[in-house]
Amino acid sequence: MTQIISPDTDPDTHAGSTATQADVSAEIAAISRAYAEGGTIETQPRLDYPPYRSSVLRHPTKDLHHADPEGIELWAPVFGHQDVDPLEADLTIQHRGEPVGERMVVTGRVLDGDGRPVRHQLVEIWQANAGGRYIHKRDQHPAAIDPNFTGVGRCLTDADGTYALTTIKPGPYPWKNHRNAWRPAHIHFSLFGTDFTQRMITQMYFPGDPLFALDPIYQAITDQAARDRLVATYDHDVTTPEWSTGYRWDIVLTGSQRTPMEEDGSDA
Ligand SMILES: [Fe+2]
Repeated sequence: MTQIISPDTDPDTHAGSTATQADVSAEIAAISRAYAEGGTIETQPRLDYPPYRSSVLRHPTKDLHHADPEGIELWAPVFGHQDVDPLEADLTIQHRGEPVGERMVVTGRVLDGDGRPVRHQLVEIWQANAGGRYIHKRDQHPAAIDPNFTGVGRCLTDADGTYALTTIKPGPYPWKNHRNAWRPAHIHFSLFGTDFTQRMITQMYFPGDPLFALDPIYQAITDQAARDRLVATYDHDVTTPEWSTGYRWDIVLTGSQRTPMEEDGSDA
């Protein structure tokens, strides 16, 4: 399988902070109160969100240079159906055996701001295994590597803008943002928008995760309605008998209902 994206951005490796979860939760609460009192709606993640420690180091302090989109597109790859094998949409069949965990299907539509389907869009995902472990070396926490699960897959949307991926439900995992910091279970998504200057990265979460309130990355989106757009819905019509559970998650690329996207990809 040709791998376009690197899971190396996952998870975070910056030095562990001595701050406790209570410290970070208090910071999250203070920002949340100030946001509620501010009266301005923000639907995208804050670039500089102090509870998410490394965001302070990462966010740009100078104006971005504007690239010439047409110049970039002269050199950008073009994907066709022949480049993406339909089998790459199933992350549970990449090895000799079955991966451990809850087999599930994630499906949904990629839409533009007017609700029109975005067709033949490349959708890529990467994720931890059922134990919350990524396969790459930077993740060294003591949870089992699953030899039957790499955690990377991709597909193209169809003529209706629909994507569908079969995978294993990822587990939550610890990271070193602060002491006892744990990420809610999530799947990273990458899309290219309508041209190759618009690569977009975001994370899909699962309904009712108890770690939402504690997570500085999820909370860096200060608006609850915008945060909710990152949470999939359990859909029993996507669930199949004796085989897999099912979740539905639509992605809106532009407009007021736009799915929150990360500026340059989260490092967790
Ligand atoms: Fe992650």
